[in-house]
Amino acid sequence: MNSAIRGVTRTAIYYGLQVVGIRHGYHGMIHNDMVELQANSVSDILDRGGTILKTARSKEFMEPEGRRLAYENLKAREVDAVVVIGGDGSLTGARVFCDEYFDIPFIGIPGTIDNDIYGTDYTIGYDTALNTVVEAVDKIRDTAGSHNRLFFVEVMGRDAGFIALNSGIACGAEAILIPEVHGEARNLKEYLQKGNKRKKSSNIIIVAEGDESGGAFAIAESVKEDFSNYDVRVSVLGHIQRGGTPSAYDRVSGSKLGYAAVEALMDDQKSVMVGFHNGETDLVPFRKVIKLKKKVDPEKMQMVEILSV
Ligand code: F6P
Repeated sequence: MNSAIRGVTRTAIYYGLQVVGIRHGYHGMIHNDMVELQANSVSDILDRGGTILKTARSKEFMEPEGRRLAYENLKAREVDAVVVIGGDGSLTGARVFCDEYFDIPFIGIPGTIDNDIYGTDYTIGYDTALNTVVEAVDKIRDTAGSHNRLFFVEVMGRDAGFIALNSGIACGAEAILIPEVHGEARNLKEYLQKGNKRKKSSNIIIVAEGDESGGAFAIAESVKEDFSNYDVRVSVLGHIQRGGTPSAYDRVSGSKLGYAAVEALMDDQKSVMVGFHNGETDLVPFRKVIKLKKKVDPEKMQMVEILSV
């Protein structure tokens, strides 16, 4: 996210605009926690995970009174436009705010490791998180193979399976359980039986935290009895997925999105998110971003089955 903050700040300064960083997201908007940003305020931040402006999940912004206070603070500071970087919650907040207050345009930038935002192929942080998962699972594979173990690795994604699906493909997982596909737990038993006959020495199953099976511990428990020949282990990767040095791809994309957000404001755009389609930035109305659900590619699931034989 820091690359996007830098992109927004420096592009805006290039156009002669003043930039104010709102700390702790909507919470800071409501509680007037804002700092002026100069070009050098965003020096040396490309390699830092997290966000220099900090973040928060604001319940107050969900209430009309919270949004009214936010509006008044923005007006008092003479803020003419806002760039919001975040996931579903942040962009929904932006949409609701813009429906109530018309005179401060908002532009969204998709930022979440979950990559679950409609209207964009990619969200900031996803690539770094994916690489973190791949590195971790590669390491787990060494133990799985050497000890003939069945591993269930749980990854983040809230109620979406993009991290699970793509890390699973990248690591050659034997199976992947994601919320978007139902009934996989049944298929999993069949699959393990087949593998058993072929005397497969190790199995890594990637489980998305939001999968209907209830997570890695629950699904591991349910197969344990039937597959007593496997030594079963569970690994929940947790918050290591949300931090660390951003990948080059995340830095370039965050910079592009930040730059494109200010360009959009200069073109008098409002209530739109800057997204990526086939490597190019484009604008998607908040209305669509909030209403529509990003789908996983069903062909990829078929591919997983074919490749993991
Ligand atoms: O939405 C991003 C995300 O990392 C999800 O993948 C995960 O479920 C959640 O946030 C974790 O949130 P928290 O840090 O509040 O536990």
